[in-house]
Amino acid sequence: MLAGEGYDVIIVGRRPTVLADAIKWIGPQATAVTADCSDPSQVPAVAAAVGDREVDVLFNNAGAFISGDDATLTDLADRWRAVFESNVTSAVLLTESLRPKLRRPGARIILVSSIAAQRGGGGPYSAAKAALHGWAFDLATQLGPEGITANVIAPGFVTDSEFFNGRMTESGYESRVNASLLKKPGQPADIAEAVRWLAGPGGAFVTGQIINVNGGTVLGR
Ligand SMILES: NC(=O)c1ccc[n+]([C@@H]2O[C@H](COP(=O)([O-])OP(=O)(O)OC[C@H]3O[C@@H](n4cnc5c(N)ncnc54)[C@H](OP(=O)(O)O)[C@@H]3O)[C@@H](O)[C@H]2O)c1
Repeated sequence: MLAGEGYDVIIVGRRPTVLADAIKWIGPQATAVTADCSDPSQVPAVAAAVGDREVDVLFNNAGAFISGDDATLTDLADRWRAVFESNVTSAVLLTESLRPKLRRPGARIILVSSIAAQRGGGGPYSAAKAALHGWAFDLATQLGPEGITANVIAPGFVTDSEFFNGRMTESGYESRVNASLLKKPGQPADIAEAVRWLAGPGGAFVTGQIINVNGGTVLGR
């Protein structure tokens, strides 16, 4: 979407084959960096790929729901750490490593949390996504005077991604759809449109906000 609007796009993920498929789909104006954004030793590769350019839009999309039986306190601690690394540390490291390269004024930072941050239900996942909200307020406060916005998109139930791989049941699907006022799941394109708005001229005066894209499942928070 951003590539179609003339941006040089750099995509980041841990699986080279997935990135290669994405580049074929996006087009040659995109480049890929294979990196685990929660690993401080791997994140500098992204800044290296940016090089001397300025960053207009930083979209922190990495995250996952990580299951576990939490049988012991060690298991519990491991899962909470893993969930926070996936959803919080990844965004913090990428943002801080690219902070010097953000366009001043004009850059847009976008984080992705979840409806789970607002209504619970996800244990450490809810807690981790909620942590992004507080941190986004700090980013907006710190970077606002430099002309940089920082906002969070909080999606509801979105299909056609790998997020629910192996975890979705028919009843789970139906209950999520029925919980939305629009009685349908979200699509990745619904999230992309919110990104387009925040990244574009319409988002210029929007900062420190949680933007709900959830079909009305959670109202007005
Ligand atoms: N789908 C939903 O219903 C829903 C609802 C609310 C919020 N969300 C949030 O929306 C975001 C996108 O989710 P999605 O539905 O598109 O799921 P997805 O298909 O699983 O996408 C997650 C992406 O993040 C990448 N990633 C995960 N951990 C990473 C890491 N440490 N370093 C670099 N890349 C990493 C994954 O690629 P690799 O595995 O190759 O690294 C994958 O491309 C997530 O933050 C998710 O929590 C989703």
